Amino acid sequence: MVTNTSLKTGAPSPPRHIAIIMDGNGRWAKARGLPRVAGHQRGVDALRGVVEAGQELGIDYLTLYAFSSENWKRPPTEVDDLMGLLRLYLRRELRELHRNGVRIRFIGEWRRLALDIVKLIEDAEQTTAGNMGLTLVIAVNYGSHSEIVEASRRIAAAVIDGSLTLDEINETTFAGYLYTVGIPNPDLVIRTSGEQRLSNFLLWQACYAELVFMDLLWPDFTKQSLEQAVDEFHRRERRYGATSG
Ligand code: FPP
Repeated sequence: MVTNTSLKTGAPSPPRHIAIIMDGNGRWAKARGLPRVAGHQRGVDALRGVVEAGQELGIDYLTLYAFSSENWKRPPTEVDDLMGLLRLYLRRELRELHRNGVRIRFIGEWRRLALDIVKLIEDAEQTTAGNMGLTLVIAVNYGSHSEIVEASRRIAAAVIDGSLTLDEINETTFAGYLYTVGIPNPDLVIRTSGEQRLSNFLLWQACYAELVFMDLLWPDFTKQSLEQAVDEFHRRERRYGATSG
């Protein structure tokens, strides 16, 4: 029986969904005596590369943590720089991503961003909605705790208005109220820069994900780094709470 291998090559199939915490832009810049924004700019280059690599490796879903709900605590100039890079990315890359069949989804409280960014995001999602290639999920103004609280609030409202009964609330219905509705849980979560924590990222969804922590800083992340993480994923034994066979 062929389960987790490619029929063509016999090589293990890539994980279906990879999520990445892109950490270390600031340290990359500091090490070179550059302003933090230079690290973020190089971070966008790395991001572009990893989207291409994801397509080449045949990954179905790639989720990138671009801006957390806690990142508002950074100095306003850095927040502006990050928002500027997001604008630029969407303006410059949408056509190419669309041509490559990439479907773009955003998760998080992105509707609270500046109106022009909200419009760019809506346009990106609508333009690419019918694409069948890689689904690129960008987490912006995202935090798992608020995602779970918001889902609970909407479930409570549905119970109050009678469209949902208490008996209907289970793990599947709950997941349907998260930002990630329709997106499978990540199989692999990668974090760069040597930090080993999830930082409020996909806490519900990553319940059985393999976690791979890499020492390199995000701007240095390449296709080879992604392949290394995938190799590590294949060395892990996923048991989902069961014993090994
Ligand atoms: C963490 O590095 C990185 C971020 C907070 C932002 C990641 C953003 C990008 C790669 C670019 C913007 C995204 C898009 C979609 C255009 P850090 O600044 O926390 O690094 P440090 O821990 O070394 O200070």
